[in-house]
Amino acid sequence: MRPSQILLPALSCLTSTTATPTQSSLQSYSPLLPPTTSKELLSLHHSLIEIESISGNEGKIGKWLSHYLSSQNFTVELQEVASNRYNVFAYGSKRLTNILVSSHIDTVPPFWPYEYNSTDDTIHGRGSVDAKASVAAQIIAVRELREKLLDELSLLFVVGEEVGGDGMAYFSDHQPRKESGEVHKYDTVIFGEPTEGKLVCGHKGMLSFTLKVRGKAAHSGYPWLGVSANDVLIEALAKLLALREKLPSSEKYGNTTMNFGRIDGGVAANVVAETAEAKIAIRLAASTPKAVRVTLLEALSDIQSRAEEQGGKLDIVWGTEGYPPVDIDCDVEGFETMTVNYGTDIPNLKGDHRRYLYGPGNIFVAHSDHEALTRKELEQAVLDYRKLIIATNMMRHQDQEVEEL
Ligand SMILES: *[C@@H]1O[C@H](CO)[C@@H](O)[C@H](O)[C@H]1NC(C)=O
Ligand SMILES: *[C@@H]1O[C@H](CO)[C@@H](O)[C@H](O)[C@H]1NC(C)=O
Ligand SMILES: *[C@@H]1O[C@H](CO)[C@@H](O)[C@H](O)[C@H]1NC(C)=O
Repeated sequence: MRPSQILLPALSCLTSTTATPTQSSLQSYSPLLPPTTSKELLSLHHSLIEIESISGNEGKIGKWLSHYLSSQNFTVELQEVASNRYNVFAYGSKRLTNILVSSHIDTVPPFWPYEYNSTDDTIHGRGSVDAKASVAAQIIAVRELREKLLDELSLLFVVGEEVGGDGMAYFSDHQPRKESGEVHKYDTVIFGEPTEGKLVCGHKGMLSFTLKVRGKAAHSGYPWLGVSANDVLIEALAKLLALREKLPSSEKYGNTTMNFGRIDGGVAANVVAETAEAKIAIRLAASTPKAVRVTLLEALSDIQSRAEEQGGKLDIVWGTEGYPPVDIDCDVEGFETMTVNYGTDIPNLKGDHRRYLYGPGNIFVAHSDHEALTRKELEQAVLDYRKLIIATNMMRHQDQEVEEL
């Protein structure tokens, strides 16, 4: 669908309290890109940051981006993932391309406005790194390459990456199909997340769950008349703490970690707690969610039976399905490589494709109140995405030649 019917603000209507860096403010700066390209990149990045798009509220940015890409002569499709939340899918002359370049348009809360510091050439604001820097750099890189690789490239910007990946899961279930009805297979998918300009060779897996305890309330002077949900929860957590050291590790990803992210229980000091719960996230360095679930169930089974004998209950409620460590391709020359401990949309896109993870900016500042990156990092990312696209396109041709032999 061409979203030409939707009324959208023109690019120039977006006002800001802080101006995008201009040539005059940057006389000392030696740009990596030609001046007009650099200016467009910075202005696009600026506009993306100015539009608040905290997960769940991506309607405005989706429509704006669709308008922008249409103005750049892309064919644009908006995929409605939920009410007023759209994935933006864009391509040139061909809908089924070999390479898909993707990132996300939602951010974590709270919103921080755009700010440019000309003293040290840094760009601040929510999403300035995660992942609007990737989005802006990908668009400029793909646009510059369109003439050469017209039929090879499409762009996908999804919603909801920060809250479990419903946008990418939706795209995965509604992937473009060939005329025969068969799902189109991408040769390469490039994902954009902050990676400090390095290629990521893999990230840890994920398993999350909640421990829920139901006890029985009583006056704290007569605790034997009740069952303390807090006692049961603390025993369970102690068991998990001891287990933490024994979870699987690997040379590539290091140790599995387990975070007790939130604990709630009881109502007052003089009441035996009736309910308690703990929310826990495990980052897997090896093994699978399935195997680790079994380990956890075994570790907690004694405490579960004891709670039941006393008239209480300990339930383990699993979060999403989880996923094992995710190996990612990183076989392109000229990049530094690393592994990371955060999750991405990569496992949410089903299919047998080469996958790469690259983006400007540092993950350590990404969700903070001082999220920022330098202008140079942003410009470098355009050059690096270009390099990555050209290299993976060449690999595809080499594969084809081998197949033809
Ligand atoms: C889009 O296509 C039109 C018609 O071919 C052309 O005149 C215009 O310059 C193009 N715009 C961009 C941004 O490439
Ligand atoms: C801009 O950056 C410089 C150098 O890091 C710093 O001293 C200054 O406080 C910054 N300005 C603002 C407005 O944050
Ligand atoms: C993994 O855990 C062990 C024991 O707890 C520790 O000695 C080691 O330094 C950890 N490795 C990494 C990579 O954090």
